[in-house]
Amino acid sequence: MSDRAPTVLVFDSGLGGLTVFSELRTALSGARFIYAADDAGFPYGRRDENMVIARVTEVMERLIPRYQPSLVVIACNTASTIVLPVLRERFAIPFVGTVPAIKPAAALTKTGRVAILATPGTVKRDYTHELIRSFAATIEVELVGATGLAGLAEAILRGQPVDDAAIAREIAPCFVDRDGKRTDVVVLACTHYPLVLEAMKRVAPWPVTWLDPAPAIARRAAELTGPIPPRTVVEDGLALFTSGAAVTGELRHALAIRGLPAIAIEAMPPHWH
Ligand code: DGL
Repeated sequence: MSDRAPTVLVFDSGLGGLTVFSELRTALSGARFIYAADDAGFPYGRRDENMVIARVTEVMERLIPRYQPSLVVIACNTASTIVLPVLRERFAIPFVGTVPAIKPAAALTKTGRVAILATPGTVKRDYTHELIRSFAATIEVELVGATGLAGLAEAILRGQPVDDAAIAREIAPCFVDRDGKRTDVVVLACTHYPLVLEAMKRVAPWPVTWLDPAPAIARRAAELTGPIPPRTVVEDGLALFTSGAAVTGELRHALAIRGLPAIAIEAMPPHWH
């Protein structure tokens, strides 16, 4: 029987997409995975929209012809909230994106106050504001643009020490208790944030439901690929970096235990450095 396992390309500005990748591995077991991190361009969260569009398109123009994926998962809210229409126009393969889980949060809140924890870029997007108008018009929404949290998550994966107090400062604006409504749901609207979930729980002023959309994204990807034939030999995934300059021993280990023991560099210095 021919081996028709699909190749799935998972993309993020950095390491945050690993949180989506681990759900994809379960939902699409048998697929071949390539995890691509644009570490040369990281972080996207404070870049101008047009720069993010140009950069992600450029990276896809390099990787798609080279690795021929049958599906691409843009595991980055900062990119997905702006670039998906451009990519769908440009390439004939399906793209699955990651956008803030505002609708499920509105359905889940009991107090009527939720927080969307995201990068400053995602907080500014028209797309995000439109989601709030459409699905959360009757509740209170705190839109919190965390400037350093994705970088802290990256540092932890690289084995660098990160103080709980730094994480507490980043998430503090999510916790609002006003007009008898206290935040009870925090949407993790940047794929990096589930990497620091345990620390966030530890420093949160009160318990909340943390909403991670990764399982829903993996289900959507599985619908698009359809059933995957069983394979006798399951290959390990490949992690690609556009710089690779900060790939420490700790990071290699973190990638290997997540199913990405092989690392390659696709050097692509961005225009903005
Ligand atoms: N992981 C990305 C996201 O989901 C953001 C990190 C960055 O600022 O590049 O939004």
